[in-house]
Amino acid sequence: MTIQWYPGHMAKARREAKEKLKLIDVVIELVDARIPLSSRNPVIDELAQGKPRLILLNKSDLADPNHTKNWKVYFEKKGNAVLQIDAQKGTGVKAISQEVQLLAKPLTDKMRAKGMNPRAIRALILGIPNVGKSTIINRLAGKKIAKIGDRPGITKAQQWIKVGKEMELLDTPGILWPKFEDQAVGYRLALTGAIKEEILDLQDTTVFLLRYLKEQYPERLKKRYGLTEISDDVVEIYDEIGKKRGCLMSGGLVDYDRVAEILFREFRSGMLGQISLEIPTES
Ligand code: G4P
Repeated sequence: MTIQWYPGHMAKARREAKEKLKLIDVVIELVDARIPLSSRNPVIDELAQGKPRLILLNKSDLADPNHTKNWKVYFEKKGNAVLQIDAQKGTGVKAISQEVQLLAKPLTDKMRAKGMNPRAIRALILGIPNVGKSTIINRLAGKKIAKIGDRPGITKAQQWIKVGKEMELLDTPGILWPKFEDQAVGYRLALTGAIKEEILDLQDTTVFLLRYLKEQYPERLKKRYGLTEISDDVVEIYDEIGKKRGCLMSGGLVDYDRVAEILFREFRSGMLGQISLEIPTES
């Protein structure tokens, strides 16, 4: 697979995240609940070393609730605090500040032991593009914070957003690039909108999706496309969906490009229901 991230941009983002982390007590890592591993960048472990970490499983409204529950257990077992949230609607967002306080308790206890009045705990949101960082910052701020780059020519000084009395959030998130050596990770990122769909071949992406749905969510496929049974052969499933949806070319052949577009669009817009594209193997 040929995906070219710009090494210069990646290095810059990493350097910036590292700088920001120096000011931070607690790291809030945002991942997509549908693909919690594929939407992480392993560099975060190195960057956030030693800092308490809260993992937010965002977009949980789009993910399969059963799997999200297991993902929460999975990350907790690895020593992280975890919350499942829907930043768009605000579900679960209130609990963030409380969780950050708990994570920072050793620090506040230390301040108290030294006779100091504990200051607000400083947190930073980190995550790959499109995972919902700005949405959550706006939620926590209770207003729209301008994105860096929203106003060309104007460089914005970094500011702290007060979240209640006990937490402060850096108003610009740390961006990490997704990392993938494995094709499946690329397909998952394209299907969830983390990378532009044009980067990968649409047919390859939807074949990946169909194979996965056939194994994990056969009933959803049947229901959505009126299939009586699910063939073992993805081409036959393409054919059946194409016929049902009238995606035919002259001569009655199925137009696979149109079927691929339908599958991609309907998955992306949630018409197939809440689906997780990654399932924890241990929980
Ligand atoms: P970023 O800063 O990490 O790059 O992501 P951003 O907040 O811009 O969010 C990317 C997209 O994901 C936005 O949609 C946003 O509304 C959506 N989003 C964020 N959190 C959630 C969530 O919990 N659930 C769902 N369903 N969507 C979420 P968009 O299509 O780019 O814009 P718009 O629809 O808000 O206009």
